[in-house]
Amino acid sequence: MEKKTQSCKRLVLVPCPYQGHINPMLQLGTFLHSRGFSITIVHTHFNSPNPSNHPEFTFLPIPDGLTEHEILSGNLVAILLALNANCKASFQQCLTQLMEQEPQNSISIIYDDIMYFSEAVANYLNIPSIVLRTVSITNFVARSTVLQLLSKGSFPFPESMSRNPVPDLDPLRFKDLPISNFDTYENYSKLVVNLHNVRTSAAVIWNTVDCLEQSSLAQIQQQCQVPIFTIGPLHKIATAASTSLLEEDIGCIAWLDKQSHNSVIYVSLGSVASISEKELAEMAWGLANSKQPFLWVIRPGSICGSDWIELLPQGFIEAIRERGCIVKWAPQRQVLAHDAVGGFWSHCGWNSTLESLSEGVPMICRPCFSDQKVHARYVSQVCKIGIQVENELERGEIERAVRKLMVDDDGKGMRERAKELKEKIEVSMKSGSSYHCLNELVELIRSF
Ligand code: UDX
Repeated sequence: MEKKTQSCKRLVLVPCPYQGHINPMLQLGTFLHSRGFSITIVHTHFNSPNPSNHPEFTFLPIPDGLTEHEILSGNLVAILLALNANCKASFQQCLTQLMEQEPQNSISIIYDDIMYFSEAVANYLNIPSIVLRTVSITNFVARSTVLQLLSKGSFPFPESMSRNPVPDLDPLRFKDLPISNFDTYENYSKLVVNLHNVRTSAAVIWNTVDCLEQSSLAQIQQQCQVPIFTIGPLHKIATAASTSLLEEDIGCIAWLDKQSHNSVIYVSLGSVASISEKELAEMAWGLANSKQPFLWVIRPGSICGSDWIELLPQGFIEAIRERGCIVKWAPQRQVLAHDAVGGFWSHCGWNSTLESLSEGVPMICRPCFSDQKVHARYVSQVCKIGIQVENELERGEIERAVRKLMVDDDGKGMRERAKELKEKIEVSMKSGSSYHCLNELVELIRSF
């Protein structure tokens, strides 16, 4: 009798090569692997993840065609447009080879919405595909408004309008809209139109929780032609091994162990944002003068004009002594879950926001660009568990914001509300919307 070759379902995951996108994709991969799927990560050479952290996955690099000049420019819009133009052919070749090598296996693709070339390839090869959206639904809705305003020529808007509310997007003001400063409006529109437009994919996965985004979700559900699975927060669904591109300094956990309950403000501006020397000085003195202990991530290269902390103001290190701990990169999820951490000064990237909310940690919101402005506004005005620091950074204002969050009654109220939200998120994961969506997603993939 002929021996039957064992078949399995292989999922090809295509992350966008930035930390805030790699994390949720690898976490999703970890979850789906635990449900019996074989996982292949197809990734660019640029910012490639570390395969040794995930022996359970297969990693396949594809050439991305990015030049050093493009990478150093930091123009995210141009880089993402280039990736989509450059990777299509190599991805198609990679998948064709995979199908030839494993003819017994059925393949499906899950791609980050920014890597939209994947959908075209999937369609061409007749492979089912699903989109993963790694930013909030509320940002998606706000971006749709931006597209409409751009098509009417409403950008740039006059400074006098910046604090005006955007119709139908309460509490967002014009200044909070997720417009990119990296490139021309034309290129930004081109990118956003492509990543908003799901043509042939079978479903949309969203790294969010229903209870955080009910009204935005309702709007999207009316427009979307395919099922939406809100399965977040992914970092809690699948506690993946490290997904960091930079080495995590775990020494800061020993430092946190020595601090008292809820006393530490954790400061991090994520993996992309940078600040000027002047802003660094204001932050440094604001933190020092607040007299609260702090754990501060200063990513190498994130201070314009320096490699790391060379530009910290004179006398600062002596002034803070043991009260501050500065690291290049932290195990952030572990930090936010630590008993000593009572507040998070964040740029409000979507992962950081979800990670803070799901640990019940109130925030100081200092957005730098794009979706971060939307999240800062929602955390401070809708959830009421954060203080947004606006305008130019100024040490006195920072000191007051830190004390308000960490010491004053206002902060206590925010901490209470943050705790309630954390509990709601836990219910969603254990028996609510995220739990059900995850099971439905698995069923859908099995049905392909
Ligand atoms: C980018 C965009 O800038 C952001 O606006 C968008 O919402 C997602 O993609 P990034 O700026 O890096 O992301 O922010 P964020 O989404 O918060 O992701 C950063 C990730 O790095 C988080 O998962 C965080 O836990 C992790 N991190 C950050 C660390 O592990 N250690 C650190 O020291 C800092």
